[in-house]
Amino acid sequence: MTDADLDAVAEAERHIYAFPWTRGNFADSLAAGHGAWLAREDDRMTGYAVMMQALDEVHLLNISVLPEAQGAGRGSALLGHLFDLARMRAATRMLLEVRPGNVSGQGFYQRHGFVEIGRRRDYYPAHEGREDAIVMVCEL
Ligand SMILES: CC(C)(COP(=O)(O)OP(=O)(O)OC[C@H]1O[C@@H](n2cnc3c(N)ncnc32)[C@H](O)[C@@H]1OP(=O)(O)O)[C@@H](O)C(=O)NCCC(=O)NCCS
Repeated sequence: MTDADLDAVAEAERHIYAFPWTRGNFADSLAAGHGAWLAREDDRMTGYAVMMQALDEVHLLNISVLPEAQGAGRGSALLGHLFDLARMRAATRMLLEVRPGNVSGQGFYQRHGFVEIGRRRDYYPAHEGREDAIVMVCEL
């Protein structure tokens, strides 16, 4: 992902999430030097991901597949690519947060080896107040 992709990524994000990252959130991630990737097929973006590394841990900040492209293995392929990159960079575990209400997201992560290790209280904005985050980890 580069600055040239930010408009398309921010628009996709608005289609995927009730509380999307803003264009500025993605720009800040690039400026901070986080890894950010697009999945493309025939020049069409089908997904994207943002990952931050801190010593031997990577934090998966965003992984998303466009609604019309979900459920056909693309998210698994993208996550597999991130696992490979993280191992190449000598990371030993991958962490992420997921909303308790995102049951399909949790199932996706569990199928790929993530287990719940805790909660962060009031982590996400929600329609009423805030929502906790489930913290999950996968040993690499
Ligand atoms: C979570 C997400 C990234 C997963 O990506 P995806 O491309 O849909 O994931 P996959 O297709 O690899 O796997 C999801 C499902 O497709 C199935 N699948 C995998 N390969 C398949 C194939 N070739 N053909 C048909 N189905 C397939 C999987 O078994 C899985 O089934 P289930 O979830 O219905 O039980 C994506 O759905 C998404 O962006 N969701 C909304 C945003 C979100 O929740 N992001 C994570 C927030 S923390």
